[in-house]
Amino acid sequence: MKHIVILVGSLRKDSFNKQLATIIKNKLQHIHVEIVNLNKIPFFNEDEEFPTPIQVKMIRNAIKKADGIWIISPEYNGEIPGVLKNALDWLSRPEIKNDWETGSVLKNKAVTISSVAGRSKGLHVRTALSKLLQRLGMNNVYDLGTGFSFNQQTFELSKEDDQLLQQQIQTFIEPHKNS
Ligand SMILES: Cc1cc2nc3c(=O)[nH]c(=O)nc-3n(C[C@H](O)[C@H](O)[C@H](O)COP(=O)(O)O)c2cc1C
Repeated sequence: MKHIVILVGSLRKDSFNKQLATIIKNKLQHIHVEIVNLNKIPFFNEDEEFPTPIQVKMIRNAIKKADGIWIISPEYNGEIPGVLKNALDWLSRPEIKNDWETGSVLKNKAVTISSVAGRSKGLHVRTALSKLLQRLGMNNVYDLGTGFSFNQQTFELSKEDDQLLQQQIQTFIEPHKNS
Protein backbone atom coordinates (compact mmCIF):
# COMPACT_ATOMS: atom_id res chain seq x y z
CA MET A 1 0.00 0.00 0.00
CA LYS A 2 1.18 3.48 -0.78
CA HIS A 3 -1.60 5.64 0.54
CA ILE A 4 -4.05 5.20 3.42
CA VAL A 5 -6.75 7.32 4.98
CA ILE A 6 -7.33 7.23 8.75
CA LEU A 7 -10.79 7.99 10.10
CA VAL A 8 -10.94 8.77 13.83
CA GLY A 9 -14.20 8.39 15.77
CA SER A 10 -13.41 11.09 18.35
CA LEU A 11 -13.49 14.86 17.94
CA ARG A 12 -11.85 15.51 21.33
CA LYS A 13 -8.77 17.74 21.13
CA ASP A 14 -6.56 15.44 23.24
CA SER A 15 -8.25 12.25 22.04
CA PHE A 16 -6.31 9.05 22.76
CA ASN A 17 -7.61 7.67 19.48
CA LYS A 18 -6.23 10.70 17.65
CA GLN A 19 -2.94 10.07 19.46
CA LEU A 20 -2.96 6.49 18.22
CA ALA A 21 -3.62 7.76 14.68
CA THR A 22 -0.52 9.95 14.95
CA ILE A 23 1.57 7.04 16.31
CA ILE A 24 0.47 4.92 13.32
CA LYS A 25 1.19 7.75 10.89
CA ASN A 26 4.69 8.10 12.35
CA LYS A 27 5.28 4.36 12.00
CA LEU A 28 4.26 4.47 8.33
CA GLN A 29 6.75 7.04 7.12
CA HIS A 30 7.26 5.19 3.83
CA ILE A 31 3.63 5.67 2.78
CA HIS A 32 1.23 8.59 2.44
CA VAL A 33 -1.09 8.71 5.48
CA GLU A 34 -3.95 11.18 5.59
CA ILE A 35 -5.77 11.65 8.92
CA VAL A 36 -9.20 12.90 7.92
CA ASN A 37 -11.11 15.39 10.02
CA LEU A 38 -14.74 14.38 10.64
CA ASN A 39 -15.40 17.67 12.47
CA LYS A 40 -17.37 19.47 9.84
CA ILE A 41 -19.52 16.70 8.39
CA PRO A 42 -23.22 17.58 8.71
CA PHE A 43 -25.74 15.10 10.08
CA PHE A 44 -26.83 12.82 7.29
CA ASN A 45 -30.16 13.86 5.84
CA GLU A 46 -31.53 12.34 2.64
CA ASP A 47 -33.10 15.70 1.82
CA GLU A 48 -29.63 17.27 1.74
CA GLU A 49 -27.76 14.46 0.06
CA PHE A 50 -27.59 16.10 -3.39
CA PRO A 51 -25.78 18.31 -4.11
CA THR A 52 -23.39 16.59 -1.74
CA PRO A 53 -21.88 18.83 0.96
CA ILE A 54 -18.27 19.80 0.15
CA GLN A 55 -16.93 18.27 3.38
CA VAL A 56 -18.32 14.87 2.36
CA LYS A 57 -17.02 15.25 -1.21
CA MET A 58 -13.53 15.94 0.13
CA ILE A 59 -13.52 12.79 2.26
CA ARG A 60 -14.90 10.72 -0.62
CA ASN A 61 -12.11 12.00 -2.88
CA ALA A 62 -9.47 11.19 -0.27
CA ILE A 63 -10.86 7.65 0.07
CA LYS A 64 -11.02 7.13 -3.71
CA LYS A 65 -7.31 7.92 -3.99
CA ALA A 66 -6.36 5.71 -1.02
CA ASP A 67 -5.45 2.02 -1.14
CA GLY A 68 -7.00 1.40 2.26
CA ILE A 69 -8.71 2.87 5.32
CA TRP A 70 -7.70 2.55 8.98
CA ILE A 71 -10.60 3.21 11.35
CA ILE A 72 -9.57 4.20 14.89
CA SER A 73 -12.37 4.75 17.34
CA PRO A 74 -13.37 4.98 20.97
CA GLU A 75 -16.29 2.96 22.27
CA TYR A 76 -19.36 4.90 23.35
CA ASN A 77 -21.74 2.83 25.46
CA GLY A 78 -20.50 -0.30 23.78
CA GLU A 79 -21.16 1.13 20.35
CA ILE A 80 -19.82 3.15 17.41
CA PRO A 81 -19.65 6.88 18.27
CA GLY A 82 -22.28 8.92 16.40
CA VAL A 83 -19.71 11.05 14.59
CA LEU A 84 -18.11 8.00 12.98
CA LYS A 85 -21.40 6.22 12.25
CA ASN A 86 -22.68 9.42 10.63
CA ALA A 87 -19.56 9.64 8.42
CA LEU A 88 -19.88 5.98 7.42
CA ASP A 89 -23.56 6.49 6.61
CA TRP A 90 -22.62 9.36 4.25
CA LEU A 91 -19.81 7.33 2.68
CA SER A 92 -22.04 4.27 2.23
CA ARG A 93 -24.17 6.16 -0.30
CA PRO A 94 -23.51 6.34 -4.08
CA GLU A 95 -21.87 9.54 -5.34
CA ILE A 96 -24.48 9.91 -8.06
CA LYS A 97 -28.12 9.73 -7.16
CA ASN A 98 -29.53 6.21 -7.59
CA ASP A 99 -26.28 4.89 -9.06
CA TRP A 100 -26.57 1.62 -7.18
CA GLU A 101 -24.48 -0.22 -9.75
CA THR A 102 -21.27 1.75 -9.04
CA GLY A 103 -22.06 1.76 -5.35
CA SER A 104 -20.12 3.63 -2.68
CA VAL A 105 -16.45 4.61 -2.41
CA LEU A 106 -16.18 2.11 0.45
CA LYS A 107 -17.10 -0.92 -1.64
CA ASN A 108 -14.26 -3.50 -1.80
CA LYS A 109 -11.89 -1.04 -0.07
CA ALA A 110 -9.33 -2.63 2.26
CA VAL A 111 -9.94 -1.63 5.87
CA THR A 112 -8.63 -2.32 9.35
CA ILE A 113 -9.83 -1.32 12.83
CA SER A 114 -8.23 -0.13 16.07
CA SER A 115 -9.64 1.25 19.28
CA VAL A 116 -8.41 2.96 22.42
CA ALA A 117 -11.03 2.57 25.13
CA GLY A 118 -11.49 1.45 28.73
CA ARG A 119 -10.89 -2.03 30.09
CA SER A 120 -12.77 -3.63 27.19
CA LYS A 121 -10.06 -2.31 24.82
CA GLY A 122 -12.94 -1.39 22.56
CA LEU A 123 -13.97 -4.99 21.90
CA HIS A 124 -17.65 -3.99 21.58
CA VAL A 125 -17.05 -1.15 19.15
CA ARG A 126 -14.60 -3.25 17.14
CA THR A 127 -17.18 -6.04 16.91
CA ALA A 128 -19.89 -3.56 15.85
CA LEU A 129 -17.55 -2.00 13.27
CA SER A 130 -16.53 -5.37 11.89
CA LYS A 131 -20.20 -6.25 11.28
CA LEU A 132 -20.96 -2.85 9.74
CA LEU A 133 -17.92 -2.85 7.44
CA GLN A 134 -18.88 -6.26 6.13
CA ARG A 135 -22.36 -4.96 5.42
CA LEU A 136 -20.83 -2.02 3.52
CA GLY A 137 -18.95 -4.46 1.27
CA MET A 138 -15.52 -3.53 2.59
CA ASN A 139 -12.55 -5.87 2.72
CA ASN A 140 -11.75 -6.02 6.44
CA VAL A 141 -8.29 -7.59 6.43
CA TYR A 142 -7.63 -7.93 10.17
CA ASP A 143 -10.90 -9.17 11.69
CA LEU A 144 -11.43 -7.38 15.05
CA GLY A 145 -8.24 -5.35 14.62
CA THR A 146 -6.36 -4.16 17.69
CA GLY A 147 -7.60 -2.76 21.00
CA PHE A 148 -5.74 -0.71 23.59
CA SER A 149 -6.70 0.81 26.90
CA PHE A 150 -5.79 4.07 28.53
CA ASN A 151 -4.72 4.63 32.10
CA GLN A 152 -6.48 7.48 33.92
CA GLN A 153 -5.61 10.51 31.82
CA THR A 154 -2.77 9.10 29.78
CA PHE A 155 -2.33 6.75 26.90
CA GLU A 156 0.89 4.94 26.12
CA LEU A 157 1.59 1.87 24.06
CA SER A 158 3.28 -0.92 26.03
CA LYS A 159 5.88 -3.13 24.36
CA GLU A 160 3.17 -5.80 23.85
CA ASP A 161 0.79 -3.20 22.39
CA ASP A 162 3.50 -2.09 20.03
CA GLN A 163 4.00 -5.66 18.85
CA LEU A 164 0.26 -6.05 18.23
CA LEU A 165 0.26 -2.88 16.18
CA GLN A 166 3.28 -4.04 14.22
CA GLN A 167 1.51 -7.32 13.35
CA GLN A 168 -1.51 -5.36 12.17
CA ILE A 169 0.69 -3.11 10.04
CA GLN A 170 2.35 -6.15 8.50
CA THR A 171 -1.00 -7.77 7.67
CA PHE A 172 -2.67 -4.61 6.42
CA ILE A 173 0.11 -2.64 4.71
CA GLU A 174 2.84 -5.08 3.71
CA PRO A 175 0.93 -7.61 1.50
CA HIS A 176 -0.30 -4.70 -0.56
CA LYS A 177 3.13 -3.03 -0.63
CA ASN A 178 3.12 -2.37 -4.34
CA SER A 179 -0.56 -1.65 -4.85
C1 LIG B 1 -20.63 8.87 25.84
C2 LIG B 1 -19.47 8.03 26.28
C3 LIG B 1 -19.64 6.67 26.40
C4 LIG B 1 -18.55 5.86 26.74
N1 LIG B 1 -18.71 4.49 26.74
C5 LIG B 1 -17.63 3.70 26.90
C6 LIG B 1 -17.73 2.29 26.71
O1 LIG B 1 -18.77 1.75 26.43
N2 LIG B 1 -16.61 1.54 26.85
C7 LIG B 1 -15.39 2.11 27.15
O2 LIG B 1 -14.38 1.40 27.23
N3 LIG B 1 -15.27 3.44 27.33
C8 LIG B 1 -16.34 4.25 27.20
N4 LIG B 1 -16.23 5.60 27.33
C9 LIG B 1 -14.94 6.16 27.73
C10 LIG B 1 -14.07 6.41 26.51
O3 LIG B 1 -13.41 5.22 26.18
C11 LIG B 1 -13.04 7.51 26.83
O4 LIG B 1 -13.74 8.73 27.09
C12 LIG B 1 -12.03 7.69 25.73
O5 LIG B 1 -11.01 8.51 26.19
C13 LIG B 1 -12.65 8.33 24.49
O6 LIG B 1 -11.73 8.30 23.43
P1 LIG B 1 -10.87 9.58 23.01
O7 LIG B 1 -9.82 9.76 24.08
O8 LIG B 1 -10.26 9.17 21.71
O9 LIG B 1 -11.77 10.77 22.89
C14 LIG B 1 -17.30 6.44 27.01
C15 LIG B 1 -17.15 7.83 26.92
C16 LIG B 1 -18.21 8.61 26.56
C17 LIG B 1 -18.00 10.11 26.38
